[in-house]
Amino acid sequence: MHVRLGKARSMALFDDAYPANPHPALAELRQAGPAHRVTSPAGIPFWLVTRWDEARRVLTDPSLSKQQPMDGLPPHLRSALTTQMLLRDPPDHTRLRRLVSAGFTPRRIEALRPGIERITDRLLDGFAADAEVDVIDRLAVPLPFEVICELLGIPAAERGPFRAWSDTIIVGGADLVEALSQSVAYFRDLLDRKRAQPADDLLSALAGIVDDGDRLSDDELVGMALLLVVAGHETTANLIGNAVHLLSRNPEQRSRLRDDPGLAPAVVEEVLRMASPSATSTYRVTTRPITLGDTTIPAGEQVLVSLLAVNRDPRRFADPDTFDPGRGDGGHLAFGHGIHFCLGAPLARLEARIAVSRLFARYPDAAVAVAPSELRWRTGVLMHGLRSLPVRLHAAA
Ligand code: HEM
Repeated sequence: MHVRLGKARSMALFDDAYPANPHPALAELRQAGPAHRVTSPAGIPFWLVTRWDEARRVLTDPSLSKQQPMDGLPPHLRSALTTQMLLRDPPDHTRLRRLVSAGFTPRRIEALRPGIERITDRLLDGFAADAEVDVIDRLAVPLPFEVICELLGIPAAERGPFRAWSDTIIVGGADLVEALSQSVAYFRDLLDRKRAQPADDLLSALAGIVDDGDRLSDDELVGMALLLVVAGHETTANLIGNAVHLLSRNPEQRSRLRDDPGLAPAVVEEVLRMASPSATSTYRVTTRPITLGDTTIPAGEQVLVSLLAVNRDPRRFADPDTFDPGRGDGGHLAFGHGIHFCLGAPLARLEARIAVSRLFARYPDAAVAVAPSELRWRTGVLMHGLRSLPVRLHAAA
């Protein structure tokens, strides 16, 4: 009986209605226990962790491994992808992360501010002739993409095809291997060009790194470049979209932000908690049994942390379903936790703060133009974000 009920509960994760409102299903799982064995409709089993305390344990326990064989990929892709730090354990992870961290220090990120403001203003200038815009298509997607291309040094004329490949990589599906092959080939060629003619960008810096005699191999460089584009693109777009959505549905918070743009950091943190753009962590595999509360996950099982669920755990957050930028207690796990904590968090935060404060400064009455039931959400359990967000820019006359 218990097993059957558990199964029925977890199947709600794969309902068509789930992406638009995942919280009732997640709340039920969280209430029932800290971790649940789930089987996807494709028959793939994994464990989903739904409580905050247990999530922190899973994300810091070194007995859970990130390394996956990726047997299904052709060798020329496997070599570039399995070297990505997100898919490595120490000591490889430690070395790779150390080599790239210099590009993401708070000072380096803060130096990007004028460029991010310029791109944001240019995108917002493009709204001028419209009464209604799709904020996903016109701001939330292009802003992070342009910023990461600038940071890495992808020439403007080459961004079009690259955007198409990276969209395919994120969505997956039949063209995935082809898009990965194209991206890997593109980055190999671009890195050769950066070596021949270094510029003031992150790829040139990474290509030239010689650190205590250590340096990134070609496969590692390509894997790193791909990870930076893919990890930061859709997640940040979801964050900006979810922020505009939540602010529009909470007009009092929207007015406060408009009157005091200094509130943007608190607003963005509360959006990360309430509507975590990366709905789950990435997969980890248990190398020995791990006990979470009354549940033991055996060795050799895949585990995902539901960031959406743990960030609304009432054991950690008072009144977790209320949007309250003033709660000020931090502690959300939207960027993960432990050694794989999101490298791009300072950049994502800066982009989202600039995007929402500038949008509402220019269009104080901007509001979602359709009823909640008409919004289109991204499907699947891994991401939480809108596919489109029609926004009316001016108050109704
Ligand atoms: C790791 C979320 C933006 C680069 C992660 C992890 C999460 C996450 C949850 C940890 C995954 C795990 O432990 O399983 C997000 C969210 C973002 C965002 C919600 C936007 C709102 C970015 C951006 C970049 C980036 C803009 C790069 C420019 C990375 C990298 C890792 C990572 C490189 C792997 C770090 C490691 O393995 O040590 N991110 N991310 N992310 N993120 Fe982000």
